[in-house]
Amino acid sequence: MIKLQPYLLPVIALVATGISSPLFSQKTSVKDIDARVEALLVKMTLDEKIGQLHQVPGDISTGTDVAKDDLLTQIKAGKVGSILSHTNFDNKIAMQRAAVGTRLGIPLIFGFDVIHGYKTIFPIPLAQAASWDMGAIERAERIAAEEASADGQNWTFSPMVDVSRDPRWGRVMEGAGEDTYLASRVAVARVRGFQGDDLSKNNTLAACVKHFAGYGFAEAGRDYNTVDMSEQRLREIVLPPFKAAADAGCATLMNAFNVLNGVPASMDKHLLTDILRGEWGWKGMVVSDWNSFGETIIHGAATDEADASAKCLSAGSDMDMAGGTFQKGLKKALESGRVTQAQIDEAVRRVLRLKFSLGLFDDPFRYLDPKRRAATLEKPEYRLAARELAANSMVLLKNEGGLLPLRPDGPFKKIAIIGPLADSRSNKNYMSFWTLGLGDVSQYDTTKVVTPGMALKSSLEEAGFEVTITEICFNADCTEKDFSAALKATAAADLTIVCVGETGIDCGESRSVTDLNLKYNQEIIMKIAARGNMPTVMALFNSRPMTFQWASENIPAILVCWQPGFEAGNALADIITGAVNPSAKLPVTFPRSVGQVPIYYNALSTGRPQQQQGQMWTSGYLDSPTSPAYPFGFGLSYTTFSYSDIKLNKTKLRTGETLEVSVTVSNTGQHAGEEVVQLYIHDPAADIARPVKELKGFEKIKLDTYESKTVTFRLTEQDLGYWNHELKFKADPGKFKVFVGGNSRDVKEAGFEIVR
Ligand code: GLC
Repeated sequence: MIKLQPYLLPVIALVATGISSPLFSQKTSVKDIDARVEALLVKMTLDEKIGQLHQVPGDISTGTDVAKDDLLTQIKAGKVGSILSHTNFDNKIAMQRAAVGTRLGIPLIFGFDVIHGYKTIFPIPLAQAASWDMGAIERAERIAAEEASADGQNWTFSPMVDVSRDPRWGRVMEGAGEDTYLASRVAVARVRGFQGDDLSKNNTLAACVKHFAGYGFAEAGRDYNTVDMSEQRLREIVLPPFKAAADAGCATLMNAFNVLNGVPASMDKHLLTDILRGEWGWKGMVVSDWNSFGETIIHGAATDEADASAKCLSAGSDMDMAGGTFQKGLKKALESGRVTQAQIDEAVRRVLRLKFSLGLFDDPFRYLDPKRRAATLEKPEYRLAARELAANSMVLLKNEGGLLPLRPDGPFKKIAIIGPLADSRSNKNYMSFWTLGLGDVSQYDTTKVVTPGMALKSSLEEAGFEVTITEICFNADCTEKDFSAALKATAAADLTIVCVGETGIDCGESRSVTDLNLKYNQEIIMKIAARGNMPTVMALFNSRPMTFQWASENIPAILVCWQPGFEAGNALADIITGAVNPSAKLPVTFPRSVGQVPIYYNALSTGRPQQQQGQMWTSGYLDSPTSPAYPFGFGLSYTTFSYSDIKLNKTKLRTGETLEVSVTVSNTGQHAGEEVVQLYIHDPAADIARPVKELKGFEKIKLDTYESKTVTFRLTEQDLGYWNHELKFKADPGKFKVFVGGNSRDVKEAGFEIVR
């Protein structure tokens, strides 16, 4: 006797009553999706079509009886095509049942911000980028997709691929940093992880590359602020990660909130039609950001909902997230002739095509199987993956005298762990704003976070160390008198680990800052720890590049931990004990001070580059060097690596040929380790000024002690080209420089030329 799952009853009922709607026929195959879309479209009323373009934020509290919500009423009336940010599984079943019970039974699609894990929380995206490990990033998204799809989500609003050079901007934590090439590689890894090889499988999610476009260049680093840039910079720096995601088959794309060169991105025909659908031939579905259609009115670029609807739809945007602008204005826009029925139908086609490709018409409850949910969420191996990626994301900036890793046979026996983030149980720490506000609290049970105190105490005591933990207040009222316990703890210790930084909600959307220094007198805590040259390790828990000039000059060991997620403490302990040799590299420049921002490695030379501070009549500052505190691509290991001179297979590159750039990397230290070998180029004589370096390749390699490996990169003219002032993409004949090294500053150099 097959026990019928209650949630399948409506589907069976529909089929049993002979409604042999094509919706529930044999499994949807890609090739007949268009035919089934057309077959459905012709049956739909205008209201049903507008309903499909309307996405409603689900009631994100758990336990609320959806039946009482007008949400259910709207769904039954065919007014809703998608729900976002809903975490209650049973509610999702009820909502889907309501949708399937409508006249045409069009299922809902459930969207959610799966940004760095779903139930098992991984390091923030910027941290993951610091691993430079595309396989690990893809695996992290695969796990996130397994969990989210098992919990009824079909669609994630990720990857965020906004390149940014401004750590004042809170959303720098959500992307892959300042470099276009790295951001493009990460974008592909994330799309592959989410979407797998078949969107109709019940363990894959539709991805959504965002925010299109230019959001990371908000003036003054202030979120949602104006973006103004040349088309040349847009095409060279901003668009390639979107193109990479689109080419990787990303199913959807999200508008940005900002104006780009005066035009709100949601109504930017040049972006959405000329480039995205025209030049790139992308056929996916575009969703607005939260009410970004309605905000075109606030931007002052639309008069009312009808005008906003007309401008956004005709520009190439399809679905209205959380704003209700289409609900209020699209019919009026049609009646007044500002949009055509054909334009509305095309947007509806894209929504229906997405739902068919997810298999939602074949089985609307495919992602709502309680058995799969129970068997999938928070598998132990998921936490292991999170721990491994968190450790491989932590960047070692300093390690004077080989202070780390702590060795049981070493000079230190008594370890004091102090600081506001030494053992915090607050749900704000080691995580991000994404794991707080959107889901209900049970969505991210932060009691599951392993704190530094927990992990370090158990792992170090197991190794024979004596460990004390002293938490310190973490707010603006903290003063030196609050630090007496820390003072005492460090006095009784041989070495101190100071856990400082920012909370997970000090950064992220709508969380820009004007000051990158450590807040709440944390520098005093470090001075206490390091007084009298006490051996001290600074463990920084940060979401963005921060400035800590005193620590850089006085603390012998500094580790950037980022916001590591659930396995924060275990990952830190793995690094501190040497169970994991740090291998991460900065995906963003760390400035000396906020006054240097924007500061990034792939800058132009200027006509007066400064060689040293104080050199007059050159591009520099009176009060600071122009160099950053730590450059892009930088990160130390517990071992050392040496690089041979670069070998080229040719020094003259002709059209159609491939340049091979080889270097032999040797592990010259006492620890096995991993090195991210980075390849940069420079075009010193082009039609326009070109960046002094541009990342064009990288490879993360493992080397045992004293082992060597030869790494070979391959470059073609396509890799050497750029968008010139006529907006043509081309590579110039003439000399080029090529650099290889373990970061963007300390490199070997060679030369070649393109000849015609
Ligand atoms: C937010 C964000 C966007 C997110 C959306 C849904 O405002 O800008 O990235 O996907 O709303 O939460």
